[in-house]
Amino acid sequence: MQTMKLIFLGPPGAGKGTISKMITERLGIPQISTGDMFRAAIKEKTALGLKVQAILAAGALVPDELTIAIVKERLSWPDVRQSYILDGFPRTIAQADALAEFSELDAAVDFEVKDDLILFRLTGRRVCTSCGAIYHRVTKPPKVEGICDLCGGNLYIRSDDQEETVKARLKAYHDETEPLIGYYQKRGLLLTIDGSPDAETVYNTFISEIGRFLKK
Ligand code: AP5
Ligand code: MG
Ligand code: ZN
Repeated sequence: MQTMKLIFLGPPGAGKGTISKMITERLGIPQISTGDMFRAAIKEKTALGLKVQAILAAGALVPDELTIAIVKERLSWPDVRQSYILDGFPRTIAQADALAEFSELDAAVDFEVKDDLILFRLTGRRVCTSCGAIYHRVTKPPKVEGICDLCGGNLYIRSDDQEETVKARLKAYHDETEPLIGYYQKRGLLLTIDGSPDAETVYNTFISEIGRFLKK
């Protein structure tokens, strides 16, 4: 299989996690989600978790040094030597510059979704406590309410998915992350995908467009 080193850009709720998981499942490419890593650290009450808990709760960005350090460490593992999807990293120009020093990249995929659809998606999101599968009460309901189809785990609502926190996350996105679109466009790495149709359509668009960014 072709190798691919990708980053997923796009606002909160754009579907970065949903499409990453489809790619992991169907193509076997590992997903690295900085948000998931921070949430796991918070749950386990590690030193990192204690440092970032209030930041995630407020919908702000974790400082660059901390975020860059955990990604750099994770990218040294053997499973991501050939291919990976970085879901939610980089999110600032400083993070993008740092990444360029420790890994090459095939493409930066930007999933475009308007703010009003984001609010609908995030306020309806449910996540499996056990395997991390992502559901939505309207667009992807589980077969049994509150229970994961895949593993039987309980579903929960992310604490940063309340409307007020979503607004703070959107502001952080527009102020700090959106400039990365121009950053990667300038470098010829940007693939823009309409993230608003159903997930299967978004996935198929990704598959038909990504080839031209990959090494033959
Ligand atoms: P993170 O966990 O990355 O959150 P986010 O970027 O806000 O993105 P989300 O996970 O909310 O959205 P998503 O795009 O993955 O959407 P999903 O697929 O779940 O980060 C959390 C926090 O960690 C940050 O706020 C920050 O504090 C910190 N952090 C993380 N990385 C950092 C970094 N690099 N630097 C600094 N701080 C960092 O979909 C959402 C919902 O919509 C689901 O219900 C899903 O079922 C539904 N849905 C998805 N796609 C579709 C579709 N096509 N059609 C219909 N429904 C859909
Ligand atoms: Mg996500
Ligand atoms: Zn599950």
